[in-house]
Amino acid sequence: MGTYIVRGGRKIEGEFHVRGSKNGTLPVLAACLLAEDEVVVENLPLIRDVLQTLDILQEVGCRVERRGRTVTIDSRYLSTVEIGSEMVKRMRSSILFLGALLCREKRAKLAYPGGCAIGRRPIDMHLTAFEKMGAVISAEDGMLDCSAEKVTGCHIYLPFPSVGTTENILLLAVKAEGVTVIHNAAREPEIVTLARFLRACGAEIYGEGTSSILIEGVCRLHGAYFTIPADRIEGGTFLCAAAMTGGELALRGLEREQMGAVLETLRMTGCRFFWEDSDLLWMKPPRRLVSDFTIVTGPFPAFPTDMQPLVMSLLTLAKGSCMISETVFEARFSQGEALCRMGADIRIFGENACIRGVEKLRGAEVCAKDLRGGAALLCAAMAAEGESVVHGSQYVERGYEKIEDAFSFLGGDIKLREERNFYAEEKIEKTE
Ligand code: EPZ
Repeated sequence: MGTYIVRGGRKIEGEFHVRGSKNGTLPVLAACLLAEDEVVVENLPLIRDVLQTLDILQEVGCRVERRGRTVTIDSRYLSTVEIGSEMVKRMRSSILFLGALLCREKRAKLAYPGGCAIGRRPIDMHLTAFEKMGAVISAEDGMLDCSAEKVTGCHIYLPFPSVGTTENILLLAVKAEGVTVIHNAAREPEIVTLARFLRACGAEIYGEGTSSILIEGVCRLHGAYFTIPADRIEGGTFLCAAAMTGGELALRGLEREQMGAVLETLRMTGCRFFWEDSDLLWMKPPRRLVSDFTIVTGPFPAFPTDMQPLVMSLLTLAKGSCMISETVFEARFSQGEALCRMGADIRIFGENACIRGVEKLRGAEVCAKDLRGGAALLCAAMAAEGESVVHGSQYVERGYEKIEDAFSFLGGDIKLREERNFYAEEKIEKTE
């Protein structure tokens, strides 16, 4: 837990190799429970959510050996199917262990993950799909107790293309009896990453990345070597920071087909992009960003909700006005108030935010309330005049690996002051 001290006004510029995808890594680590041999996963981002997920794997009995960004996981020593509340409180995405444990052991006990800063985060779609495939689920004392005599494939129609639900169904279906078809499946790149990993372990999966995914259950999954792809949201974050500070930036490692909606939106603000080689993206920002359009977040390939706070931050400095409609999460404008304290002109009406660009932002003392909102405040602090103090590094550290070092490497003036007592009395916040 700590506080970032930022002196703004310096360009974020240069060349940066984007780290591994947080939201691509977490389901892959849960899926390691299904492999009956050792699994080696490379290019892990060394972020809190990933390190805590490795802790969970160890605490349920897996052998976990990490060397830098490479981890070897052997789940043959699994000793329990219960994941306690403290872990789940820290790690909301541990809900993915439900599908993996139910698939492997036909039993799973998991603390009910609650809501968090960006919304209630219910899991009704997960549970409905599991029950349809044969699971019996009871909830008592805040624990979900799931068991299944047999897991049988079937057609599942998702009311919303939920990323986590699609991932959890994939994890349960790969060893189900018969065929499972997920209709209205999420199409996010992280679904493709998970499917590629499971296929590397011997699963039969077809159609990932489209709205219909077919899984043919197999008897056994073997080990695999797998490399995590780059984090499209980390890449988008640095693009916004560079554009806000007038820096030219080159990002290595991004996958072109994952960046469409984000680059299209930044092009509308005046940024110019070109790809060199297959994975080197150059960005040149305009002298003054412009905005006169509407952004609507939505399931992939629409504009990603995870980039909404970052683009809100960027638009505070764009000449003109812009409307953002956040359709995925019900409470994801937490950064708005803090950006206004820095001089931004933002008005929020329910799920819509109207941003009118100002000439400049001024440094201020602000508090991060969630992961992407915290990153948005850091981007604003980089562009602001004077010094900013951004509390709540524990949120940002969940999804960005030493972001203060990355921004310093790219020309920013930012320090992280570790503080133990700032949130001393704060209970562990639910995390998204
Ligand atoms: C994943 O969350 C990501 N997290 C989120 O990234 C991302 O914002 C989100 O997908 C959307 O892309 C991880 O991958 C760890 P959903 P997830 O299920 O799976 C509702 C970040 O900053 N819903 O697609 O929880 C839900 O409340 C994080 O890296 C139900 O109603 O997202 C939300 O409104 C934040 N019932 C909407 O669907 C359910 O059973 C989308 O949720 C499940 C979801």
